[in-house]
Amino acid sequence: MNSEISKTLLSDEILISAPVNEPERQHYFIEKLKEYFTSSNNKKKACVATFGCQMNARDSEKLTGILTDIGFDEGDKEETADFVIFNTCTIRENANEHLYGRLGRLKQSKKNNPDMIIAVCGCMMQETDEVEKLRIKYPYVDIIFGTHNLYTFPELIFTLLRKRFGSVDSINDNGKELIASSADDVIKYEKLLRYGSHGKDIEKLYRKPVVSVWKDNSDIVEDLPSKRKYSFKQGINIMFGCDNFCSYCIVPYVRGREKSRAPEEIYEEIRKAAADGVKEIMLLGQNVNSYKGGIGFPELLINVDKLAAETGIERVRFMTSHPKDLSDSLIEAMASCSRVCHQFHLPLQSGSDPVLKRMNRHYDKETFLMRAEKLRAAMPDISLSTDIIVGFPGETEEDFLETLDVVKKVRFDSAYTFIYSKREGTPAAKYTDQIDEETVKNRFDRLLEVQNAIVAENLNKLVGQTFPVLFESVSEYDDQLISGKLESGTTVHVPGDESIIGAVRNVMLTECRGFYFTGEIID
Ligand code: 5AD
Ligand code: SF4
Repeated sequence: MNSEISKTLLSDEILISAPVNEPERQHYFIEKLKEYFTSSNNKKKACVATFGCQMNARDSEKLTGILTDIGFDEGDKEETADFVIFNTCTIRENANEHLYGRLGRLKQSKKNNPDMIIAVCGCMMQETDEVEKLRIKYPYVDIIFGTHNLYTFPELIFTLLRKRFGSVDSINDNGKELIASSADDVIKYEKLLRYGSHGKDIEKLYRKPVVSVWKDNSDIVEDLPSKRKYSFKQGINIMFGCDNFCSYCIVPYVRGREKSRAPEEIYEEIRKAAADGVKEIMLLGQNVNSYKGGIGFPELLINVDKLAAETGIERVRFMTSHPKDLSDSLIEAMASCSRVCHQFHLPLQSGSDPVLKRMNRHYDKETFLMRAEKLRAAMPDISLSTDIIVGFPGETEEDFLETLDVVKKVRFDSAYTFIYSKREGTPAAKYTDQIDEETVKNRFDRLLEVQNAIVAENLNKLVGQTFPVLFESVSEYDDQLISGKLESGTTVHVPGDESIIGAVRNVMLTECRGFYFTGEIID
């Protein structure tokens, strides 16, 4: 593009005129970036790669929305994209390793296309060591930011472009306490440009990333663009962060303290989604049961259910609940709702009381069993899913058998099973009695065997029955089949065409194949 136009769009005047308040400030940068990126003829491609949970998936929709707004098309190949962003997860060690593999593959792409922008954000960037590792080993990363300032993404792109064009400013971090920032580099760069110096020094600083990672943030800034991955389903954040500090878990350190969104803001986002054709929403929070937006979660759920019925939203889901906060009033509220799916994710983690205590979970085996039973009594068709960690430090064979016992008693419809992963900075990382790999693997396999048999039995019982299915997409494996989901979340494939995508139809389940069904539309 014409460098004169770039200079004007990225000038000091443009920066100084930016509004101070959010989200207006970011909307302003979006407008400027839009002018910048759309002034060149060929449309550029952006790729957003997401690791981890539903919260990250929702955050990625926001990042995609911003990139689309400023003029990028969505591309599916990282290597050939003009803008690649990795939204990272750090819940287990292998999530971190995965990022480095993917980043390594982009080194050559960046050499081929020096204008390419590579950004890394998300939970992993809240860890100082990881940011340092990126700076040293992956100097071709251009932008690094964390979970608390995702909404400043437009401003960070603007800062990077100003730097590339030789005009810089120290990064405005809105007075927030920082974990990592590149303000010093930016100031050094400015001095070199102003007073002149060795070309190599400038080059070295030029290649340093724009870094802005905040320690925490009590503000909630929403109302920025977002682009849904699926046209008919959307996650709705109702709260952020976690105050539970389970001893193995890094989430409270990287996502910060709990904060809830005001109910009216949540309703407004749901109304907009419904007007846009959304049929399924998922209320998202690390611990939705402790929602504190002036009303509690049961009341919020009832209000959302009413709103869903009024606006044509067919299904409401929520995730995740902590067993310690699962109240009778939530069970009652859920049972009274018409659009809330009879599906509940209740993470067990372990069935052993001493392990639960060391995990800092604040419930015991009996309480867990009682709550699961209450859910089933109130909604006999409810589908229960769970998370289980195997090999927590000090877990004995007896402890493990207690976990198996709960699995057999509750008969979860699905279970996400994890091998314990030591996370630096968490209390459990200091526990000395880590379990050897072979024992853990053996327990993990035994757990899977028991759980898989239960799933097969549970699913096979449903064959021949008819259930509503919300259709989502053409099957990945066969374009004559359309894939959808039961209320429980289980996948069903039926012969059909794309016209039923986004609709709910009654389907007779004809066959169970492992973890999914085939079926036929009845009406
Ligand atoms: N190791 C293994 N699994 C973990 N989880 C959280 N932290 C760890 C860890 N350090 C699992 C828990 C949680 C799910 C999202 O991830 O089961 O419920
Ligand atoms: Fe982690 Fe426990 Fe919070 Fe879940 S409730 S995010 S496992 S600390």
